[in-house]
Amino acid sequence: MAHDATPQPATARRSPPLSGTARVPGDKSISHRSFMFGGLASGETRITGLLEGEDVMRTGQAMKAMGAHVEKHGNEWVIRGTGNGALLQPEAPLDFGNAGTGSRLTMGLVGTYDMETTFIGDASLSSRPMGRVLEPLRQMGVQVLQAAPGDRMPITLRGPKHAAPITYRVPMASAQVKSAVLLAGLNTPGITTVIEPVMTRDHTEKMLKGFGANLSVETDERGVRHIFIEGQGKLTGQIIAVPGDPSSAGFPLVAALIVPGSDITIENVLMNPTRTGLLLTLQEMGGRIDILNPRNAGGEDVADLRVRYSELKGVTVPAERAPSMIDEYPVLAVAAAFAEGETVMQGLEELRVKESDRLAAVANGLKLNGVDCTEGEASLTVRGVPGGKGLGGEAKGEAVRTHLDHRIAMSFLILGLATEKPVTVDDRAMIATSFPEFMGLMARLGAEID
Ligand code: S3P
Repeated sequence: MAHDATPQPATARRSPPLSGTARVPGDKSISHRSFMFGGLASGETRITGLLEGEDVMRTGQAMKAMGAHVEKHGNEWVIRGTGNGALLQPEAPLDFGNAGTGSRLTMGLVGTYDMETTFIGDASLSSRPMGRVLEPLRQMGVQVLQAAPGDRMPITLRGPKHAAPITYRVPMASAQVKSAVLLAGLNTPGITTVIEPVMTRDHTEKMLKGFGANLSVETDERGVRHIFIEGQGKLTGQIIAVPGDPSSAGFPLVAALIVPGSDITIENVLMNPTRTGLLLTLQEMGGRIDILNPRNAGGEDVADLRVRYSELKGVTVPAERAPSMIDEYPVLAVAAAFAEGETVMQGLEELRVKESDRLAAVANGLKLNGVDCTEGEASLTVRGVPGGKGLGGEAKGEAVRTHLDHRIAMSFLILGLATEKPVTVDDRAMIATSFPEFMGLMARLGAEID
């Protein structure tokens, strides 16, 4: 679906107490990887709980274009992969829409193939830096035949006859870059090594091992991870149950914390420790979040979360926590807008290269709605107003600019559930990239958004 169509604004209003039980869609990171690894492995992969958002569907289409069979039978996605090393050259450019993860991981996956692949995307994706992935790929022998200035899309890659294994130290905290190099290593003879100074989400490592890759991780005394992958091994199809996305859960969760009288339960949320920074931070702020029925499902920790309205207090969120909550800062800033005192968020440099410059987008949206905040180079400080009196944007009649960013749209719609005046965002369309059920799910809990 193209998003250059007419924008669809949406408005959130101060709502009665939220109540009920909800299930958020499957984790986006695991869903992308399920399609990719299933499409590559020999034999059949069966996936339940997959996020059927636009971003993930693009990855499914890309794997199809390279020879995988991808079908839906009832609730289950059934993939028959090509076998490792056997992807085919796609006949047309791979269009990744808005999806950074899908495009960057696929560049790694196919970059080392002796074929030409072209990557295109929407205006947001075409403005995002791809050099962070192209840099290590070039070292492995991949030629970049075409790229827009600054290593941006459209990008055409041509792999070498035989890729060279490398040892690559990831220069920024990025699971996408780590994963792209590991996936390039799958089609490279010998051992490819990724050195990860700051741990990021580890779904690629866990899932590749599950598919049978010869992958090992050693963590040295300084906490630096060394990840080794042996190329050209066999991958075998798996059965995958995708747990609920903690990043999507963040929206109803913060909504319940800020709307007085709320009491909701969000079921089956992924609790992988590389993803739980938001929970920890909200608990430190005084959020009443009970972690119920902790269990293991298909190799991942999951739990149900009971969330009740809470009187929040500002905290300082340390920079080291950023990788475990990188996508959650916009909604944390919304919680902070209702907290007593100041919330200081540090180590946010990566927010500038997400689907939008999220640091600027959040600060501008908050200011537009009367929230006092300061945007630093890589930090954000929010001074909250418990009860939300005077907040909201009705008087100015201006909408929050979402810049083709799903999480900016959802975060500001959550803000409007507890501000005195309504909050309007300029476009809701991008929400479908990661959380197509957002409007319906929030309405069922009692939120007033239209
Ligand atoms: C993701 C990694 C993160 C995150 C993105 C999903 C992944 O990006 O923001 O939504 O699935 O690997 P970076 O690697 O750029 O931090």
